[in-house]
Amino acid sequence: MSHEPIIELRNVGKSFAGSRVLKGINLTVSAGEIVTLIGPSGSGKTTTLRCMNFLEAYDEGDILIKGQLLGYSSAGREVKHRDSPALIAEVRRPLAMVFQQFNLWPHMTVLENVCAPLILGKKLPRDEARKKAAAALAQVGMSDKEQARPARLSGGQQQRVGIARALALGPELLLLDEPTSALDPERVEEVQDVIKVLANHGMTMVMVTHEMSFAARISSRVVFMAEGAIIESGAPASLFRQPQTDRLKSFLAPWFKRPLQLDEAEAGYA
Ligand SMILES: Nc1ncnc2c1ncn2[C@@H]1O[C@H](COP(=O)(O)OP(=O)(O)OP(=O)(O)O)[C@@H](O)[C@H]1O
Ligand SMILES: [Mg+2]
Repeated sequence: MSHEPIIELRNVGKSFAGSRVLKGINLTVSAGEIVTLIGPSGSGKTTTLRCMNFLEAYDEGDILIKGQLLGYSSAGREVKHRDSPALIAEVRRPLAMVFQQFNLWPHMTVLENVCAPLILGKKLPRDEARKKAAAALAQVGMSDKEQARPARLSGGQQQRVGIARALALGPELLLLDEPTSALDPERVEEVQDVIKVLANHGMTMVMVTHEMSFAARISSRVVFMAEGAIIESGAPASLFRQPQTDRLKSFLAPWFKRPLQLDEAEAGYA
C-alpha cells in the first residue's frame, strides 16, 4: 500500500452568509485508506466532503489534491484568486462523488447515465465510454439492467448505478455522502456490500455515514466532527471503544445500547 497523500486539507474553513460552519479542518487521506466522517446533523460533514472536490468553494486554508492546490492560484493567501473551471476540473480529476439522492437522470437508461459524465465531462468517444460504463456496472452487479430507466429500479439498485457512474471515471478517491441513508432498510445491505467489495479491492474512500456499525466494520480511520471541527479521530476499535471526549461519548451513547444488549443476550446474561 502506498502512503502518498491523495488529498490534504490544511486548516480549511468555510462560512455561509457569515456563519462559520467549518472551523479549521485538518485531514490527510492516503492511498488505500477508508476514512469515515461521523457526527451530529449540521456538524459540517457534507460541507467538508463538498469542499474536498470544490462543489463548495472553501474560503480559509488550503486543499491539495496529489500535491496540487485545489480551486485557487496560490496557497495560504488572505485574498484567494479562483482558478478557471477547466483547471479546477483538472486538479480534482482523481476524485469522484457518490450522492445521497443518487441524482440519476430519469430520461436516460442506466447505461446512458453512467456514460454521460464520460462523454460530456471527459470527452471520451462513445464506444470507449460504453466499455468503461459496462465494466463499472458489472462491478456493482448491474449488468442486466443496462437498458432500464432509473424509475424501474429499487433505491438500492439506483444507488449501485450511482456508484458505477462514479467508478467509471476511474477515481483514485471516492467520496460518498451517506450513500445508504435514502434507502429502505432492506436495501441498505446490498449497497453496503458493494462498498465493502470496493474497499477490499483497495479503493480509497472518504464516506459520511450515520451507520455506526458499518463505519466500525469498514473504516481504517473514523473522524468525529461536531460544530464544524474535528473533535476526535482514530482507528475504529479505539474510537468506538474508548471515546476520549464527552462530546463523542454522548454522540455514541444511543448506538452503544443496542449492540450491548445483543451481546449480553448472546452470552446468556439477559
Ligand atoms: N448551502 C448552504 N447555505 C447555507 N448554509 C448551509 C449550506 N449548506 C450547509 N449549510 C449549513 O452548514 C452547516 C453544516 O451543514 P452540513 O450539511 O455540512 O452538515 P452535516 O454534518 O452534513 O449534517 P447532516 O448529518 O444533517 O447531513 C449547517 O448548519 C447547515 O445548515
Ligand atoms: Mg450531510
